[in-house]
Amino acid sequence: MERTFLAIKPDGVQRGLVGEIIRRFETKGFTLVGLKFMKVSKELAEKHYDVHRERPFFPGLVEFIISSPVVAMVWQGEGVVAAARKIIGATNPLTAEPGTIRGDFGVNVGRNLIHGSDAQETAQTEIALWFKEEELVAWQPHSTPWLS
Ligand code: TYD
Repeated sequence: MERTFLAIKPDGVQRGLVGEIIRRFETKGFTLVGLKFMKVSKELAEKHYDVHRERPFFPGLVEFIISSPVVAMVWQGEGVVAAARKIIGATNPLTAEPGTIRGDFGVNVGRNLIHGSDAQETAQTEIALWFKEEELVAWQPHSTPWLS
């Protein structure tokens, strides 16, 4: 079953949006299989954003991610990678559609509340980077037949 990696960034936690953000994926019908509240090491932040290493915003991005706790999550479901990106909205919250997390709650590209894997391959890499295999919980929600 398809899985994606999501992380509520420090601004989402600081603004008290953890419940609101998790609710959107839960009520949509996706299945939570991994969840941890943690402070991120500089090494992990740099690995996670390695693709942006040469971009001018990279140092500030890493400092931001390690500045305060995040909520790291793995969600499962058919088409969850692309669907989560839709629920999250465009990178810049000012152009993100209303109804998306970034469109509803953000104004600043550097403080856009949540990370979501951009493709299935990236999701696998990010899940392996953030979670140990034994931290992921395989389970079947009883309500699945109502959602499929
Ligand atoms: P990116 O992977 O392009 O966006 P997304 O998070 O939507 O997949 O960029 C990663 C993060 O880098 C982004 O969430 C916020 C930060 N960022 C900036 O601070 N400034 C920028 O100009 C861009 C493009 C990204």
